[in-house]
Amino acid sequence: MRISVIGCGYLGAVHAACMAALGHQVVGIDVDPDKVDALNAATPSIFEPGLGDALAAELEAGRLRFSTDYADAAEARVHFIAVGTPQRRGEGAADLTYVHAAVEALVPHLRPGAVVVGKSTVPVGTAQLLAERIHADQPDASLVWNPEFLREGVAVADTLHPDRIVYGIPAGDEGDRARAVLDEVYADALASGTPQVVTDYATAELVKVAANAFLATKISFINAMSEVADAVGADVTHLADAIGHDPRIGRKFLNAGVGFGGGCLPKDIRAFRARAEELGIGDTLGFLREVDAINLRQRDRVVDAIAGALSVNDGDRYFGSDSSTGSLVGRRIAVLGLAFKPESDDIRDSPALDVAVRLKGLGADVVCADPKAIPNARAKHPQLAYASTAEALAGAEAVVLLTEWREYRDLDPAAVAAVASGRIVVDGRNVLDPDAWRAAGWTYRGLGRP
Ligand code: UDX
Repeated sequence: MRISVIGCGYLGAVHAACMAALGHQVVGIDVDPDKVDALNAATPSIFEPGLGDALAAELEAGRLRFSTDYADAAEARVHFIAVGTPQRRGEGAADLTYVHAAVEALVPHLRPGAVVVGKSTVPVGTAQLLAERIHADQPDASLVWNPEFLREGVAVADTLHPDRIVYGIPAGDEGDRARAVLDEVYADALASGTPQVVTDYATAELVKVAANAFLATKISFINAMSEVADAVGADVTHLADAIGHDPRIGRKFLNAGVGFGGGCLPKDIRAFRARAEELGIGDTLGFLREVDAINLRQRDRVVDAIAGALSVNDGDRYFGSDSSTGSLVGRRIAVLGLAFKPESDDIRDSPALDVAVRLKGLGADVVCADPKAIPNARAKHPQLAYASTAEALAGAEAVVLLTEWREYRDLDPAAVAAVASGRIVVDGRNVLDPDAWRAAGWTYRGLGRP
């Protein structure tokens, strides 16, 4: 099948490479010439495990190329729309500028029988409008809404082996024809038994935001439990294990910590709420405001935990009265992790980076480390100091783990104690072994862990 992928960011670049890996003939279109050049050289500007190798293999095989020219998409039968839908500045709603621009640019090149496939996360109701726009120029083309559920860090595997395939299709013969075309694209996954849900546009659009709203709610639920645990001296990690054994609840996404970030969960719950307001049912999703608030409060809790631990350890330098953040002034703090999650260099809405910025703003002498995200972090926050993990730890009065990269989970407390100047560790992801760190002389603070 000849395929175009419009928009070659986190989603589109992975999707293009994976569609080529399935044997399709793929052209990726992006308006950014630097991005296109990098992808054509198999050197993506994002860090995503396996993406560089997949690009190299498919470029070499001649099944994949990237271009800035929409005319190069004209030969394709299937056109995936994979552009971003960021949060509108100063508002919760999604900015659909790129989606509309992509469709406008694509429409003149659509051939009869072409199928446009929406992958971007959009407010419910968008697909119907785009279908009308497409039909106005090319009545024999169709739109399918096919939300994407890939997770950064495992995006290639998620795309090649999705846990479900969802289509929102138009009614009648048009929908049946479009579905048959897309079934050909996903023939391998369907043949291997991947569950498929075929529905209408609105439901398909909602599936994506509902899934992300549920995941965000699950994380904020356990983070709320971690606050309760702190209040009573309970252990939220044991609580999560215990309730997670109930298959109706499940253990995944019950890790309390500094909270969720990234390019999807935070913006998607805000856009979902904004859309509900527009639909006159704002109260129905009012709980998502609380989900967002709990999530953001985790960042305050981490900062407070660091300040509290430092003030206890150094009474003379504690100037705080109702807040202990005065204890942060001039203190050397090693920040381990900047990306919003491990195996990614993505710093969009990263809780880790936000905590680093707050600590710096409160006067701390912050040195930040991350295996992959430093270039992105430095471009956005040049005021922060960046270093290798060893340099960040050397002389640190407090160590704070904010992204659970394997190398941070595996830190040897005795080895860190040999280079740090203080013995305070704040585990913003609840992944370290408190007993091991305490045995090595550390004051350990997690979130909701005694
Ligand atoms: C998410 C969805 O999982 C994916 O299906 C959708 O397509 C895009 O949005 P992603 O943003 O890559 O994927 O990250 P995800 O793995 O969902 O993690 C989101 C955030 O939640 C991260 O910051 C992570 O650290 C945090 N998280 C996750 C927790 O704080 N606790 C958990 O238990 C799980």
